[in-house]
Amino acid sequence: MSTRFAGKVCLVSGAGSGIGQETAISFAREGAKVIAADIDGAGGLQTVASIISVGGQAIFFKTDISKAADTEAMVQAAVDHFGGLDHAVNCAAITGGVSIPTHEYPEELWHQVLAVNLTGMWYSVKAQLNQMLKQGGGTIVIVASAAGLKGHPNNVPYSATKHGVVGLTKTAALEYATKNIRVNVVCPTAIETPMIMDGRLNFRNNQELQEKFTSEQAMMRMGQPREVADVILWLSSDQSSFITGHAMPVDGGAFAK
Ligand SMILES: NC(=O)c1ccc[n+]([C@@H]2O[C@H](COP(=O)([O-])OP(=O)(O)OC[C@H]3O[C@@H](n4cnc5c(N)ncnc54)[C@H](O)[C@@H]3O)[C@@H](O)[C@H]2O)c1
Repeated sequence: MSTRFAGKVCLVSGAGSGIGQETAISFAREGAKVIAADIDGAGGLQTVASIISVGGQAIFFKTDISKAADTEAMVQAAVDHFGGLDHAVNCAAITGGVSIPTHEYPEELWHQVLAVNLTGMWYSVKAQLNQMLKQGGGTIVIVASAAGLKGHPNNVPYSATKHGVVGLTKTAALEYATKNIRVNVVCPTAIETPMIMDGRLNFRNNQELQEKFTSEQAMMRMGQPREVADVILWLSSDQSSFITGHAMPVDGGAFAK
């Protein structure tokens, strides 16, 4: 068993489901002490239970990343329970739940998506950087999307916020490159999680749409959460020690087309 993260403190937001859940479990499997943060208590507690059931260490911390005080408290929880913060992964996001073209997109939903996916991501990174600066280093990974590198029809706030966090990543990477803090962002295409299976696109009940998205990947399949978590762990590990400010597609060859 790999022990890349033995004794390290890893914070994952959005850890109650999908990619974040898989990331939290993967960190724990490799020896980390995990803070599983999520707005959803049931999902977050389930993640923690599955880590503890195999002898790992984790706590759940209920967090709404759109609230600055919550993001500060989530980082403080890492310090209080486990003594610091070595690696942070920011997965939490929402899609807005509707498919509407830009000129008709509801203003209220625009603000909701921005509050979580962009402002909430900045609050999170800000709190994480403050702690890592105090400690003298760390790594941060943000989960954006392929929609952060190209347009995403009928979901303008999602694409705008995902482009926004790519800029946030690159800026923070430059600012802290000589402070032993690396900041990277992953940009997955279609990954089989509740967000895509049961959310806005509802792939579970829309075979036609699922096939369309599947065919965008050269591999002609959707990705699995584990395949994104593996990249996130690599970007968090010393194995990627010369990589910062990178926006990495996890895409089954979609961007090679
Ligand atoms: N699934 C895909 O195809 C796909 C593709 C590209 C990018 N992504 C991105 O990957 C990340 C994880 O998505 P997923 O597919 O695992 O989705 P998911 O819906 O399964 O998980 C998202 C988690 O974030 C949590 N969350 C939502 N709002 C929150 C808030 N305000 N504060 C704290 N937690 C909050 C949810 O409760 C949920 O547990 C997201 O950033 C998403 O945009 C997903």
